[in-house]
Amino acid sequence: MGGLAEGAVHVAIIMDGNGRWAKRRGLPRTLGHRAGVETLKSIIEACPELGIRYLTVYAFSTENWKRPKNEVSALMGLLVEYIEKELDHLHRKGVRVQAIGDVEALAEPVRRQLAKAWETTRNNDVLYLQVALNYGGRAEIVGAVKALAEKAREDGDFDIGAIDQEAVRSHMYCPQTPDPDLVIRTGGEYRISNFFLWQIAYSELWVTPLFWPDFTPAHLERALKEYKDRDRRYGGVENA
Ligand code: IPE
Ligand code: IPE
Ligand code: MG
Repeated sequence: MGGLAEGAVHVAIIMDGNGRWAKRRGLPRTLGHRAGVETLKSIIEACPELGIRYLTVYAFSTENWKRPKNEVSALMGLLVEYIEKELDHLHRKGVRVQAIGDVEALAEPVRRQLAKAWETTRNNDVLYLQVALNYGGRAEIVGAVKALAEKAREDGDFDIGAIDQEAVRSHMYCPQTPDPDLVIRTGGEYRISNFFLWQIAYSELWVTPLFWPDFTPAHLERALKEYKDRDRRYGGVENA
């Protein structure tokens, strides 16, 4: 199934290259992140007409804490500012905003904005926007394993043999969200960097050397067109 026709396509984006974009211009990395927010806004606007129902953006990984303190706080500050400024607009557009990741570990002002965004938009259904924050694919899988172990400990009749893929999936951050159809990475690196690990088993990958601030809805459209022409075999044989 290509997905495009049903209008339920899930695109996941590793928004990389803000720092290099800024460096090229002799600007501080934080200005690259600020430019990246503008790109995000334009991409969100473009999703509904391109038939994208789910958009996940990788905004901060569990490894990004390694960065200089000022960069981390600038990123968190930008997120708070973004929600403060854009929430009404997102709500009017029918966007549901949900954070995925270890959100509890984020600073209180960030958690407060994320909670407000979710509360305001939770019934919207034009575009399901998932913002991966303090997200790590491995941490997510560890969380699922722990949840299942906890169940086994609490329930003496727990049948370990009955643990299947659905049982594992049900303990992911967003079990209702279909797996991504297409994963886009900007910034030219051919790696996943601990983004969705479980979910990308059969996702199509599309890498562009463009830095995230230079990425436009036209590029997104091109990626989708190419995706549409691919033959997703899921281990089977080519479509006859
Ligand atoms: C944005 O790009 C990704 C985030 C962690 C917010 P980078 O900040 O990684 O930019 P590059 O890869 O150093 O250019
Ligand atoms: C991936 O980019 C994380 C996000 C886009 C949030 P990184 O810049 O952190 O990844 P690496 O270090 O190049 O693998
Ligand atoms: Mg990077």
